[in-house]
Amino acid sequence: MKNEKLAVLGGEPVISSGDISPEKRDSLFRAMVLTEEAKAAAMAVIESGNFSGTDITEQFEREFAAWQGTKYAVAYCNGTMSLTAAMFGIGLGEGDEIVCTTKTYWASVSQALNFGASAVFCNINDMLSMDPADLERCITPRTKAIMVVHYLAYPCDMDPIMEIARRHGLKVIEDVSHAQGGLYKGKKLGTFGDVAAMSLMSSKSLACGELGMLVTDDRTIYERAMAFGHYDRNNAKYITECEELKPYYHIALGGVKGRANQLCCAIGRDQLKHYDERCVEIRRAMNYFWDQLEGLPGIRAIRVDESTGSNMAGWYCPYGIYKPQELHGLSVKRFAEAVRAEIGGICYEGGNYCLHTHNFFKTFDLTHGGKPSRIAHNDRDVREDDPLCDPSLEKYCFSVPRFNYLDRDVIDLYAAGYRKVIEHHDQLLENDEKEAQGGHWYGSENQ
Ligand SMILES: Cc1ncc(COP(=O)(O)O)c(C=O)c1O
Repeated sequence: MKNEKLAVLGGEPVISSGDISPEKRDSLFRAMVLTEEAKAAAMAVIESGNFSGTDITEQFEREFAAWQGTKYAVAYCNGTMSLTAAMFGIGLGEGDEIVCTTKTYWASVSQALNFGASAVFCNINDMLSMDPADLERCITPRTKAIMVVHYLAYPCDMDPIMEIARRHGLKVIEDVSHAQGGLYKGKKLGTFGDVAAMSLMSSKSLACGELGMLVTDDRTIYERAMAFGHYDRNNAKYITECEELKPYYHIALGGVKGRANQLCCAIGRDQLKHYDERCVEIRRAMNYFWDQLEGLPGIRAIRVDESTGSNMAGWYCPYGIYKPQELHGLSVKRFAEAVRAEIGGICYEGGNYCLHTHNFFKTFDLTHGGKPSRIAHNDRDVREDDPLCDPSLEKYCFSVPRFNYLDRDVIDLYAAGYRKVIEHHDQLLENDEKEAQGGHWYGSENQ
């Protein structure tokens, strides 16, 4: 029996370096798992030099659309570009407003400023997800669209969101980067809005390298999104119905090159074949992990009740909610530090910082127009409506391991690390640094 002094104070950790072999750690935690067939397909692209064509990409797009259940799928070089193309697809333009949840990665909405549009930020609920109750506050006659982000794989509450969107005549884009294949009440995420786009980069649950994908049933959005970044498919073969696009064949209308690298599409074709099966196993493992911690004070799982027909697909980037008031006010920072000492890393507080707190949305002048770009084409200062996010939502969450498969013995060990800190949290109350980190900006570790 290991002693009960917390490891962060010099006690013995729950997991010591020799307890889990490097091979087991790799198979349990590796984000991008590749079959031999995927590696062979990638090698075939390397050997043929067929990186820049579109034949493999188009095969992948067809398979992806069939899997997603949409008429069209268009691949891009990354998720950021696919989301940008979706904005162009719906016709986002100067003076428009687009509402997005504030706690997300910057590429969900920052590009709106490139179109002369204003990003308007919506509050999050206690699952760190778009709060439908705050949505109506964000809508004005200028609102063109809602960007719904299924953040940390948790499906947004699409019934009220779609009802509000339709009542106000708004377009809906879904950012499915964290939740490919996830379900809301039995229906696939990415099929609720007018268009969805997502990252398939190497750390995502559907990992294809550096890749993005846009899916839609809407022919106009499809053609516009294609013409935006695919100069080599902006022609009469692909752009057949949008009369307004036809005079502009052969140049990428966004002035950007968005074509996918076929190496990643070749990998993606094989990844897609195994994805649903892998997700089932990940969900078994993650639900088992959270079951072990159920009922403990101070923490709550971010997970859905799967009996409703919803699920968290590949459970990208799992987090828990932290309730310091149930642990005598212990800061999440100290809590996470103590868990890291018990299990050897993994547990960090915060998630993404809320976007509205960044100077990019307050003062940055992208086009040297003499005004912050976020309000350059708006007759009101949207910054005045920025969320007053409940600090407990901004600050009090923490990461947990994401297991690729159910290995009860190992998962029990990780759960024991969290449980030990909770049960002995009184040891940490002295000299606790109360100031929690609200999250992080990517790249900030390098200043
Ligand atoms: C929610 C979200 N949207 C968009 C992106 C951008 O995707 P990419 O990195 O593939 O450009 C990411 C991050 O990868 C993300 O986490």
